Amino acid sequence: MNKKEFKPCDLVIFGVLGDLSTRKLLVCLYQLDKAGLLEPDTKILGIDRLPGNAELLIKTAQSSLKKFLSEPVDKASWLKFSARLNYLSLDLTKTEDYQQLNQYIDKENRILINYFSVPPSLFKVICQGLKKSGTLTDESRMVMEKPIGHDLASSQEINDAVADVFTGEQVCRIDHYLGKETVLNLLALRFANSIFTNNWDHSTIDHVQITVAEEVGIEGRWGYFDDSGQTRDMLQNHLLQILTFIAMEPPVSLKAEDIHYEKIKVLKDLRMITPENVTEKTVRGQYAAGAIKNQPVPGYKEEVGAKTQSETETFVALRADIDNWRWSGTPFYLRTGKRMPAKHSEIIVQFKQLPHNIFTESYADLPANRLTIRLQPNEGVEVDVMNKVPGIDEQIKIQKTKLDLSFSKTFKDSHIVDAYERLLLEAMRGNSTLFISREEIEQAWTWVDSMQNAWAVKGDAPKPYAAGSWGPDDACDLLKRDGRHWSS
Ligand code: BG6
Repeated sequence: MNKKEFKPCDLVIFGVLGDLSTRKLLVCLYQLDKAGLLEPDTKILGIDRLPGNAELLIKTAQSSLKKFLSEPVDKASWLKFSARLNYLSLDLTKTEDYQQLNQYIDKENRILINYFSVPPSLFKVICQGLKKSGTLTDESRMVMEKPIGHDLASSQEINDAVADVFTGEQVCRIDHYLGKETVLNLLALRFANSIFTNNWDHSTIDHVQITVAEEVGIEGRWGYFDDSGQTRDMLQNHLLQILTFIAMEPPVSLKAEDIHYEKIKVLKDLRMITPENVTEKTVRGQYAAGAIKNQPVPGYKEEVGAKTQSETETFVALRADIDNWRWSGTPFYLRTGKRMPAKHSEIIVQFKQLPHNIFTESYADLPANRLTIRLQPNEGVEVDVMNKVPGIDEQIKIQKTKLDLSFSKTFKDSHIVDAYERLLLEAMRGNSTLFISREEIEQAWTWVDSMQNAWAVKGDAPKPYAAGSWGPDDACDLLKRDGRHWSS
């Protein structure tokens, strides 16, 4: 990362004592500071409801580092970092109170980055408070996180409220998957390697699988999660972002507008899910009690804070069809769930079989090439290739082998940065390539809404699956019907 690109800025975190901030933001900011990537005078002002002063935030940051940093805290870095922290207790719903902010910021000389680490119901009032208090300049930015809405209409409402105060260029909408090293590597893999670029469409690729399996359950967030479900929590954003990177046309450049333009086209081309095809194309599941790594875990409706009745899905699998020239006839199978056997995210690009087999001695049915992109853990790229078995047999014998590129082995000396480190830095740099545009979010909602509506019309409840399994059996049938199967 290049330090020269930095502009002086200060950061305000709304909801600094909340889950995202204490788990991620404070730790990532410390790491950026330790790496010398925060500008020397950058100040971090935390805002929350609890009464307190800088001491409260310093203590909070200290315990965050203790809990979530995977290495010992460096004393000198901590001293430098803690000196940047300040805290303001504010009732975020009282726009007149935002006046107090002015005494903490230097808007003449610094760019103000406002990180909204709060529920979307507060976005509007914070925007109004910032506007009324005269805290903002044309250079100020705001960063917001999912969930940006619950459906298209609510997302438009949030985006409208934000657009009242911030222009498009001032808004950074985060999907933390776009900060992940392996997701960004999809751009390199696709657009810097002719072997893939030239073999990347329906004529060579049979189908694509995108799996994002989580071992965790809902981590004490029953209230939030039961309103969302895995479709809104993971599919609408993270999986669709991965899909667009795999399916988009080559962008003209890496500039934000060029990448956004191509991603939007893919989202527009997704075939809508209807009440007529929803049963055949989608599967919803909800975990029941089971075991993960031999440890018993409760079912979804037995989690802390759960209600006894819920038809919210914790698993979803589906077939997505992209109606365009490149992908016609090549389905994308998407699958994501909580309480799966392991944390395991990967993309499988399954190439087509060759039209004729001359190695019938070795294989009656010649296996096709397969590209596996391991997103997490054990990040890397793997290609199944057919190879001659060494020897002087009368017939040439072949065998399926793997070209395996493991990132940790190949890039031994590189530190893999946390997605939030990268995205915080990009927000401070004012580079929006890795953020999502309004239109992308709204297109993604349009498609997801078609699925939610179809489920509502059919009234099907999610199928139970045992925690620690790969989801309901119906998820396997989804591919079986097409003569295919999941890779794991
Ligand atoms: C978040 C979801 O966006 O992503 C969580 O709200 C989920 O429910 C998390 O567990 C997964 O992120 P990662 O980086 O661990 O794959």
